[in-house]
Amino acid sequence: MARHLITSALPYINGIKHLGNMVGSMLPADVYSRYLRQRGHDVLYICATDEHGTPAELAAKEQGLPVDAFCAQAHDAQKAIYDGFGLAFDHFGRSSSPQNAELTQHFARKLNENGFIEERAIRQVYSPADGRFLPDRYVEGTCPHCGYDKARGDQCENCTRVLDPTDLIDPRSAISGSTELEVRETKHLFLLQSKLQGEVEAWIDEVADEWPQLASSIARKWLTEGLHDRAITRDLDWGVPVPADTWPELAAEGKVFYVWFDAPIEYIGATKEWADQDPTGARDWKSWWYGPDGADDVRYTEFMAKDNVPFHSVMFPATEMGVREPWKKVDFLKAFNWLTYYGGKFSTSQKRGVFTDQALDILPADYWRYFLMANAPESDDASFTWEHFTATVNKDLADTLGNFVNRVLSFSRKRFGDDVPAGGEAGEAEARLGEQIAGLLAEYETQMEALQFRKAASALRALWSAGNSYLEEKAPWLEIKTNPEGAAQTLRTAMNLIHLYSVVSEPFVPSSARAMRAAFALPDDTATWVTADEAKSLTTVTAGTSFTVPPVLFAKITDEDLETYKERFGGEPTA
Ligand code: 2FM
Ligand code: ZN
Repeated sequence: MARHLITSALPYINGIKHLGNMVGSMLPADVYSRYLRQRGHDVLYICATDEHGTPAELAAKEQGLPVDAFCAQAHDAQKAIYDGFGLAFDHFGRSSSPQNAELTQHFARKLNENGFIEERAIRQVYSPADGRFLPDRYVEGTCPHCGYDKARGDQCENCTRVLDPTDLIDPRSAISGSTELEVRETKHLFLLQSKLQGEVEAWIDEVADEWPQLASSIARKWLTEGLHDRAITRDLDWGVPVPADTWPELAAEGKVFYVWFDAPIEYIGATKEWADQDPTGARDWKSWWYGPDGADDVRYTEFMAKDNVPFHSVMFPATEMGVREPWKKVDFLKAFNWLTYYGGKFSTSQKRGVFTDQALDILPADYWRYFLMANAPESDDASFTWEHFTATVNKDLADTLGNFVNRVLSFSRKRFGDDVPAGGEAGEAEARLGEQIAGLLAEYETQMEALQFRKAASALRALWSAGNSYLEEKAPWLEIKTNPEGAAQTLRTAMNLIHLYSVVSEPFVPSSARAMRAAFALPDDTATWVTADEAKSLTTVTAGTSFTVPPVLFAKITDEDLETYKERFGGEPTA
């Protein structure tokens, strides 16, 4: 048994996430956590909402709410959706927590003591009408490249060019609309990442060979381009305040840390929130993160989409190193490409694609979980289309898994009543089946352990298919006419397969797995993993065990449904 710390990139607080966000971080982390828990490991799966920064301020403003009230409500809304998706976090925290503020300030003080922080004066847009410096996004104006009149100071949404606020023609404040903007000098804290380049490189050489190529190549590319010193403070009202004991002047000016400085620290902060929530005080957050050798009995796996890789592979580790304390660094970084919607971008701002709340309105979580993981954008981008989704659900979930369960249990009940029938001894077909199942299960485990989710899903699907092939071969509905004992034995074997499926399918389709297991009146401990060797002759479901036929596990998506979805969400490739 090992200790596994698992985190998925913290979703921004503003707005409901789409399916692309889900498959690129939280869902695979949940599948992996569930698998490891079932294998008997000590798992801590931590996530949180990423609540600071300009986007949170802007979203709150749009809704006419104070930013703290907005965040509290948006956090609960996201949490409810993740519960709906069956994400079994050990804790889903908030980066605006006092725990995170304390840790963030601690990190900053230590970095400063170790000579990795410097105060530098920079020139920034100031709005006298608003009485504040404006972050880049708060300055709007006309794009000098394409003439778009609502370009933001950091980027033009129309032509996607990256901008500096001083590039804008006729700049104005996004808060008040005031055009009387000035450029003033102001001081900010800079993290001297350039000094840590060599250390980060040495560490990457040590750990990143094991990572998926997507992750290690991004990390190396960033290092090749060189680690630059970065401003880690901002002029915002909402964020972790710069500690007054160390920087009295900046604190008095109301400066806060940049959201990307405090967000990764919240992985630790949320772990402390988890511990603080336990009234018995038995949870030891520090043992997961901190130790003489950086908690090296813990294996730390991070999940994220590729745009987050630079921050997690290079910048956050640099911060952890500069603190000169033994904080746990990532051991394995699992990165994902993009899920597209009909080949185009899922877009939160343009509401293009399927959002997580809408998905759950339409169909239960397991349909989405299975489809998304079986098509996870691992080696390349993957495209969501309603046609592909429908075909996958109907074939794999409804026809292969659901139908097997239903056919076996209904037929047995009709012919042999409410208890699992006994039948005779297992024969040659069962021996062959056992070998096949053992092989596929071993393959499934190998792929799960390698965090190769598409391949793991294939192995799982092959396990389900093996049951169908066995049933076709034995045809108990014919066998019963001449050899009722044999048919009973076939059905009992098939019921053991259903039970096996309920155990091994749990990471992907947890509610359906539970429903399958609940069909049998068996003690709870039969939910524990079955090894490949044990799978050769399954005996968990013994003759005489009573069972029920669960309601249809997966309903087929009809042509009519498909048309409705396409109409509602738009189902055309983008130019
Ligand atoms: O890209 C994002 O959605 C960020 N909110 C991820 C933050 S991950 C971590 F560092 F907190
Ligand atoms: Zn432009």
